[in-house]
Amino acid sequence: LEERRTARFQARIDADEKIEPVDWMPEAYRKTLVRQISQHAHSEVVGMLPEGNWIGRAPSLRRKAVLLAKVQDEGGHGLYLYAAAETLGVSRQEMVEQLLSGAAKYSSIFNYPTLSWADIGAIGWLVDGAAIMNQVPICRCSFGPYARAMQRICKEESFHQRQGYEIMLQLSRGTPEQKQMAQDALDRWWWPSLMMFGPPDGESQHGAQGMAWKIKLFGNDELRQKFVDVTVPQAEYLGLTMPDPDLRFDEAAGHYRFGAIDWDEFKRVVKGGGPVARDRMKARRRAYDDGAWVREAALAHAEKKRARRAE
Ligand code: ACO
Repeated sequence: LEERRTARFQARIDADEKIEPVDWMPEAYRKTLVRQISQHAHSEVVGMLPEGNWIGRAPSLRRKAVLLAKVQDEGGHGLYLYAAAETLGVSRQEMVEQLLSGAAKYSSIFNYPTLSWADIGAIGWLVDGAAIMNQVPICRCSFGPYARAMQRICKEESFHQRQGYEIMLQLSRGTPEQKQMAQDALDRWWWPSLMMFGPPDGESQHGAQGMAWKIKLFGNDELRQKFVDVTVPQAEYLGLTMPDPDLRFDEAAGHYRFGAIDWDEFKRVVKGGGPVARDRMKARRRAYDDGAWVREAALAHAEKKRARRAE
């Protein structure tokens, strides 16, 4: 019976049908989705920290309002994603505990510090740009709640990308010091952005199965290449230099060829060895502890309402 069910399930995926929470699914499919969606949710929430660092120091009221709205959007993305994962029978409490205990991963990119205002531009342009490249295909993934959550997220992410590029444009057309600040941010964020796409396909544990289930529609390397191809001309337009002496356009292939990625650094950062990984987790734990009274009050309020209804 299990075999027949699995074959029917795969046939539905192959026919591009959406799988919904009430449908039968293999346990491994459910687990992979919980892993990926919760990691994605944690990334959105931890991702509020590097940018939150600059809200109080934004250079103008307009920039501050934009950054506040953007960081708030990221929190919202985390919430839609936790809600999508909850349809698979895991509670938000469990997922948050996994993050705080270090059992669950979040994106390596958020373990790097934001040292100057230009980093806010580089994050929007490169980090959100990479996120969009990876996430637009997920709008068509096989699991309904994840695909639907991703549609709104991608619309908001594309605003984020443009606001970042606009900051970079203004800085790179500004004084020599401002242009240098933009170049320095690009130098520090370029390689970590390429690592966001995950390990090379040959080392991607979940890649092939994720693609067979249409949780992933493209491999890590293909998306990374697409990102490089669209981003290099954007850097040229800014008049900035990519920190990669091996970067060149391969006419025959129609792609930019880039230098070797430092996968040792990637592994180190994923394992919690990033420059600010400890601070990130400390900030999340503190936020969780400081929010305990809000959770208790909300539960007490819900309990009171339930008792009143029962009277
Ligand atoms: N940072 C941290 N961990 C990573 C990263 C990364 N950049 N890339 C891969 N990993 C982890 C995987 O989670 C996996 O670990 P696990 O088995 O403990 O879960 C391991 O490295 C091996 O990688 P893959 O087998 O290639 O993993 P997977 O098939 O899940 O692909 C990817 C990784 C591409 C990140 C995928 O999970 C994905 O598309 N996720 C949705 C998007 C997302 O999470 N974006 C977060 C950052 S963007 C943002 O939030 C603004």
